[in-house]
Amino acid sequence: MEINKIMVIGAGQMGAGIAEVCATAGYEVLLCDTSEQSLQAGIARITKNLEKNVLKERITIEEKDAILARFSLETTMERAKEIDLAIEAATENMAIKQLIFKDLDALAPEHAILATNTSSLPITELAAVTKRPEQVIGMHFMNPVPVMKLVEIIRGLATKDEVYEAIETLTHALKKTPVEVNDYPGFVANRILMPMINEAIYTLYEGVASVEAIDDVMKMGMNHPMGPLTLADFIGLDTCLYIMETLYEGFGDSKYRPCPLLRKYVAAGWYGKKSGRGFYVYE
Ligand code: CAA
Repeated sequence: MEINKIMVIGAGQMGAGIAEVCATAGYEVLLCDTSEQSLQAGIARITKNLEKNVLKERITIEEKDAILARFSLETTMERAKEIDLAIEAATENMAIKQLIFKDLDALAPEHAILATNTSSLPITELAAVTKRPEQVIGMHFMNPVPVMKLVEIIRGLATKDEVYEAIETLTHALKKTPVEVNDYPGFVANRILMPMINEAIYTLYEGVASVEAIDDVMKMGMNHPMGPLTLADFIGLDTCLYIMETLYEGFGDSKYRPCPLLRKYVAAGWYGKKSGRGFYVYE
């Protein structure tokens, strides 16, 4: 199962990061998004990061140009017929992802692997809309993708061992560390991280401490690089709420109920850093 050409679907924060690490590792990347504007924003983010790496003498200007030359920008998935692997990093919504997987299944060659960067949605349910559930797998990168070492690799119920092994090999080639996980809501990362963030929001909601105090306790007391409320803003409060809903629905356990304050912020359009306001205000 040789992988040479990769289509990354979604040029947002995660998709652009995934595309960057794939092209940096030498793969040909078709970066796909529905709008030209999103593609341009994605490639601008990637270029900025590569320019920083040139300044820090991690890569040469020639290497930066070679990495950028490995990209093609696509507003349709038509060229999925050329690929060995698709990594879907679209909006965290099952209906949208299912539509993408149906199209990919129809377009991609028989040997191609279909991976999703979903942070909590069931891989098995996504795989079920395709005719190749044994070639569907979860590949969950962490944000910011160029910096974070972990990739959770999630086996769906039908995922073949050869597919798992191909994705594990690819993860090493991307200079990341794979961790094998089974398909249950939130996998491992978000099953543990999100309830902590949700509890931090409850701590604020119940007036136990201020935003800054909660973050300081976790930064200085637990040596976390960011406090949980800063991290929630960084991930996106809409994404945090979506993941909590997935845990709540998937396990049917009240310990995963999203905090009403989180719901209120999301209803107000306070999504965190990307919208300029969350627990903090961003200029
Ligand atoms: N994209 C690319 N590079 C970035 C970046 C970004 N968005 N943000 C920071 N960096 C780089 C910086 O450029 C810097 O690189 P250099 O060494 O080349 O200078 C490096 O990261 C360190 O950055 P800073 O010194 O500015 O700041 P820092 O020491 O606070 O590190 C951080 C930044 C790595 C983001 C750190 O704060 C951190 O580890 N935060 C927690 C991140 C985390 O928990 N991520 C998981 C989120 S959950 C998730 O992703 C899963 C999900 O499904 C929700």
